[in-house]
Amino acid sequence: MAIAKVGVVGCGLMGSGIAQVCAQAGFSTVVREVSAELLEKGLKGIEKNLGRLVEKGSLTEAARNETRRRLKGTTSVDDLKDCDVVVEAIIEQLPMKRELFGALDKLCPPQTIFASNTSSLPIIEIAASTKRPQRFVGLHFFNPVPVMKLVEVVKTVATDPDVYEQMVAFGGKLGKTPVRANDGGGFIVNRLLVPYLLDAVRALEEGVGSIVDIDISMKLGCGYPMGPFTLLDFVGLDTTYYISQIMFDEFREKRFASPPLLKRMVLAGWNGRKSGRGFYDYSDPANPKPMEL
Ligand code: 3HC
Repeated sequence: MAIAKVGVVGCGLMGSGIAQVCAQAGFSTVVREVSAELLEKGLKGIEKNLGRLVEKGSLTEAARNETRRRLKGTTSVDDLKDCDVVVEAIIEQLPMKRELFGALDKLCPPQTIFASNTSSLPIIEIAASTKRPQRFVGLHFFNPVPVMKLVEVVKTVATDPDVYEQMVAFGGKLGKTPVRANDGGGFIVNRLLVPYLLDAVRALEEGVGSIVDIDISMKLGCGYPMGPFTLLDFVGLDTTYYISQIMFDEFREKRFASPPLLKRMVLAGWNGRKSGRGFYDYSDPANPKPMEL
């Protein structure tokens, strides 16, 4: 089956990035958000990204116009009915994802392939809300989607091998490097990344070093683009806490358990960059200051 039209559900941070790369890669793309305001915000972000690429000379004006032409925004799920692939990137709540896919299953033709961008929920549990679990995969992108080169393609116990190979190829067509992952908690990246981030918080709690020194150590000592606290603030403390709970529930191992400090910060609403405060204070966004914790 040739993939020509892609639906993306959710035009937030991840969904807008996914819609952008799909449209840039040549797919006719329709992205759906729940409200006109949220849709406009997401589309504006895409427009800003495309503008930055044109300014830098990495996208021609003609290619930007083609991308714009291929990309449509909508607030109606019905507009996804003739998509060959639908990628979901809505909020990380299982009942909402199951409800969405239950509706899409009734709306889309039987050959449409469904994919979820969930970072930690079991793909099979979402797929089981449809009558086509064999045509369901995980497609896990990384933030910022237009920049990060990886996509994890997740196979469940029920995924049809031909569908899976088609989605691995689709990941490549989006300009990403696809890796094959099984449907185990956190797939590959979060299985390794989340314990590392949680350990950094534990190291801070134990007085191993300051926020700034731990960040500098991992940047300069290991060549990571961001230290763990900068990355925690970037990903979102609430998101990391949520993923850790799902992974702890799956594995029952201390390395996946959230340290008390992380939980307290999330309870305080200090969710990182997006809330203006996390391990750093972003009152002056160009010059974040480490928090006194
Ligand atoms: N959208 C689009 N493009 C962006 C961007 C964004 N939000 N942020 C930065 N860029 C582009 C810039 O325009 C620039 O492009 P250029 O090289 O063509 O000029 C390039 O990315 C580099 O940006 P900057 O020079 O401004 O800054 P950095 O060199 O510090 O790079 C970064 C920024 C790419 C975010 C880099 O710091 C990085 O790779 N950080 C780690 C990110 C990471 O680990 N992400 C994964 C998180 S885990 C995840 O998403 C999984 C989930 O399940 C939790």
